[in-house]
Amino acid sequence: MTTLSVPTAAQVTPERILQFAWGYVPPLILEAAIRHRVFDTLDESPKNLSEVGAATGASERGLTAIMNALVGLGFLAKDEHAVYSLTPESATFLVSTKPAFQGGMIRHCSEHLIPRWLGLNEVVATGLPVTAVNQEDSGSDFFQNFVNDIFPLSYPAAQALARHMNFSGVPIRVPIRVLDLAAGSGVWGIALAQSSDQVHVTAVDWPGVIPVTQKTVARFGLSDRFSFIEGDLQQADFGSGHNLATLGHILHSEGEERSRALLAKTFEALASGGTIAIAEFLVNADRTGPVNGLFFAVNMLVNTDTGNTYSFEEISSWLTETGFINSRTLESPGPSPLILATRP
Ligand SMILES: C[S@@+](CC[C@H](N)C(=O)[O-])C[C@H]1O[C@@H](n2cnc3c(N)ncnc32)[C@H](O)[C@@H]1O
Repeated sequence: MTTLSVPTAAQVTPERILQFAWGYVPPLILEAAIRHRVFDTLDESPKNLSEVGAATGASERGLTAIMNALVGLGFLAKDEHAVYSLTPESATFLVSTKPAFQGGMIRHCSEHLIPRWLGLNEVVATGLPVTAVNQEDSGSDFFQNFVNDIFPLSYPAAQALARHMNFSGVPIRVPIRVLDLAAGSGVWGIALAQSSDQVHVTAVDWPGVIPVTQKTVARFGLSDRFSFIEGDLQQADFGSGHNLATLGHILHSEGEERSRALLAKTFEALASGGTIAIAEFLVNADRTGPVNGLFFAVNMLVNTDTGNTYSFEEISSWLTETGFINSRTLESPGPSPLILATRP
């Protein structure tokens, strides 16, 4: 959701407000349908309600309500014999065995985000978050369970970065050193390592999360191409001479002061000519859109003590202050382009 059309004074009705009052409904229906294997069952073959009931064990009354709502939302189709089937969108993104399955993000929304957002009135009153996932004690447990859920969100962008860097064109035997900061699942390093055998990745994350990174990297058969550093980003030793550093969705939880310190530390860790690549939910310079970036700023208000979303202009000014040159964007799949800059 990047734009919302706002009615003019002449057209004003309560329609949008009443629609937004039901805004929690789609993610919760999707979650219930995923949890009860509705999409998985229909991926095997189209079925009527009692067949879906027999396959899932869920109540016919419950399935009737959510499956019809899913038809209304365009995630299921229903024919004249009341046989339900998947749409191209649900077949690609809502079947648990598909590589682009988005169910982890939906579960995250219903299990973690919605309960915390219910405290928003209090958060706005005090300016204090419900939880602070930017702190290691609460954040480490949270991210252990979450980082693989968001792998599909960043993998296409990480592949776009790998194509752009074109490491396969580097002469054989020249090692390429990638520093994957706040690695999480390792998604950025994994896509880069897949793009060239010469890539070696150093992945940094909290000690509680690195075992998850190691497992995911092993699943991709890339363990011999990775080294791991356990520690907080502000304290860990990143080494030096890296050719590329990735900061995938970390600046928003760190907040401005720690983000600037992190950029300065990353600068020191890069070789001359090295590239920094930053993935974020960007907002425009006057903070009037896109709306998903503005929503994410409220998410950071609820879930961190100093987090926020930033514009290209802000991040680029921090990069320039740090000594980076040529701040630029790279169009990539996802809500915002990547930001790249070069250490001279
Ligand atoms: C939103 S996830 C992003 C993971 C991955 N880069 C991606 O784009 O999918 C943020 C990651 O940063 C790690 N993290 C957050 N704050 C950190 C800190 N201060 N020091 C080390 N790791 C941190 C979390 O454990 C988590 O793995």
